[in-house]
Amino acid sequence: MKTIALVSTAGGTGRTTLTAALAVLLARRRRAVVAVDFDPQNLLGAHLGLDTFSKVGLADAMLGRTAPWREHTWRNDEGVLFAPHGELALDERTASEARLVSEPRWLAQALAQIDLPDSAVAFVDTPRYPSPQAAHAVRCADLVLCLTPPEPAACATLVRHLAPLRRASAHLQIVVNRLNPARDMQRDALSLLQAAVGATTTLDQRVHLDAAMPEAFARGTWFFDDAPHSQAAHDLQGLANWLDTWLGPVAARGVTRKG
Ligand SMILES: Nc1ncnc2c1ncn2[C@@H]1O[C@H](COP(=O)(O)OP(=O)(O)O)[C@@H](O)[C@H]1O
Ligand SMILES: [Mg+2]
Repeated sequence: MKTIALVSTAGGTGRTTLTAALAVLLARRRRAVVAVDFDPQNLLGAHLGLDTFSKVGLADAMLGRTAPWREHTWRNDEGVLFAPHGELALDERTASEARLVSEPRWLAQALAQIDLPDSAVAFVDTPRYPSPQAAHAVRCADLVLCLTPPEPAACATLVRHLAPLRRASAHLQIVVNRLNPARDMQRDALSLLQAAVGATTTLDQRVHLDAAMPEAFARGTWFFDDAPHSQAAHDLQGLANWLDTWLGPVAARGVTRKG
């Protein structure tokens, strides 16, 4: 099983949207997929089709409070196994973050409790980096997808955090999201980012801006089903194909819970 963390150094870059979309697109490619909400905002479930916010989840396990977290997982209509974050009070949040710092492999150990084929993938949604949750997810991931909009301030922020991100990541791939070719300033921002990251890190993975994306979420549908011929849907399918190849051949389908 491989773990892929979606992180970003700016807010509202599409981490949760892309975590849900990629989880479903990989599940449709007959891969066993787990979607992990590691963000205290607890919003990934809504993107995956859950109509209530799960109060219990991984965070309770971080606090050592409830029955095993995997008893609070859900499977959505697409077959994605979803592990909610759960709701935490502010003081509980501090305690859970302290555990993530003191037990740097906590998430990897938690995911190892699910009986998954080697070809399975866990997508991990995170709060903005740097944060204890995002840093922890980066440490535990086999691949870090670092999202950025092609905007000057966001790219400059990413460049500032790039060195520690690279040091902590097994593999890091930048994904440019919300690309709008009509805006010249975005081309300049990407040139500056490319110069800063160097030739070894490509900016080839790009998802175009499409107003239909938030609308699909509001309707509870999948953007790539509503607008399959749009540029952004094509981009998402391309990113899913790239990940599918990176993950390697698919084993027999199925995700089961241990014990
Ligand atoms: N490529 C895109 N085109 C248009 N809107 C997008 C795109 N990606 C994300 N969004 C929208 O941006 C907003 C923030 O996305 P979200 O996934 O919540 O970001 P994050 O989890 O990084 O805070 C949402 O309304 C989402 O629908
Ligand atoms: Mg989010």
